[in-house]
Amino acid sequence: MKIAVLPGDGIGTEIVEQAVRVLKALDLKFEMEEALVGGVAYDAHGHPLPESTLKLAKEADAVLFGAVGDWKYDKLERQFRPEQAILGLRKNLGLFANFRPAICYEQLTHASSLKPELVAGLDILIIRELTGDIYFGQPRGKRTSPDGNFPGAEEAFDTMRYTRPEIERIARVAFEAARKRNKRVTSVDKANVLETFQFWKDVVTEVHKDYPDIELDHMYVDNAAMQLVKAPKKFDVVVTGNMFGDILSDEAAMLTGSIGMLPSASLNASKQGLYEPSHGSAPDIAGKGVANPLATILSAAMMLRYSLDQEEAAQRIENAVKKVLAQGLRTPDIYSEGTTKVGTREMGDAVLKALG
Ligand code: IPM
Ligand code: MG
Repeated sequence: MKIAVLPGDGIGTEIVEQAVRVLKALDLKFEMEEALVGGVAYDAHGHPLPESTLKLAKEADAVLFGAVGDWKYDKLERQFRPEQAILGLRKNLGLFANFRPAICYEQLTHASSLKPELVAGLDILIIRELTGDIYFGQPRGKRTSPDGNFPGAEEAFDTMRYTRPEIERIARVAFEAARKRNKRVTSVDKANVLETFQFWKDVVTEVHKDYPDIELDHMYVDNAAMQLVKAPKKFDVVVTGNMFGDILSDEAAMLTGSIGMLPSASLNASKQGLYEPSHGSAPDIAGKGVANPLATILSAAMMLRYSLDQEEAAQRIENAVKKVLAQGLRTPDIYSEGTTKVGTREMGDAVLKALG
């Protein structure tokens, strides 16, 4: 088994370092190899996803990813921006199924901006389609507007599209995930306006026939955004397209008040996966040793579970994280009065100790 380790930019290096320490402590048989990605890769090789990094990622069973991006790259041409690395990895590895859990940890309930009773015990799984939709749809670009409100004016455009197989496979992933949970799937669309998402809704409804044990409901994306803050605990598994999933998963993450705690997994059809924290590179706190490494450590646990077939080791890590929270250790992002403030490395130390 081989893990490609891609720390990336900003706090990426600090948090991945802690996850690697935890993985090493498990004493399992796998190889880890590190490579540059994002802005640091652009600085060193002139591209955010150099050939060598992509090759390593493709050959590995799993990729442990930190974060990419920094303000200083914002002015680069789009193809050289750090974000292109993550989009390139998704596309090239066919990582179509993105799992974004939003879990509210008992000890962190107060960190949410919602009333504690709305979020206590919250456990939602957002499943976002990751390789289609308006993110990748062709054609896209700039041109002279051929019609519409201002014919002849300069315009930019993207294309929203989904094929039947793309919808079918992500729907199956969602129904199967729901089987291991509370057996409810909410499919989020915009079928009232968009052809793409009327088709999405129809195909999800068809696939559902194979899963009679799962309850399916459909919700428009605007209503879903509202319900997520009104009564988030009503959701179990949410399945949606790439763009809506991007937006709703950030909203859901914030419900927990601690995005620094949330891992994510992006899988392809052969269980190869990319694992990364749900948060970004946080350049404002990079290098200060205060970033929360727990989302990355929990991403490593997801990696063990979904790509490396090591359920026991995954649970060992998750239990260790619960233990350090119970001990009252907190990085600044989740700190509250009466708890103990620690830095990135101390948090890593504590998890290592709690592994037992
Ligand atoms: C995410 C991010 C990415 C996305 C960006 C960095 C390209 O927002 O993973 O949610 O839009 O998918
Ligand atoms: Mg996003």
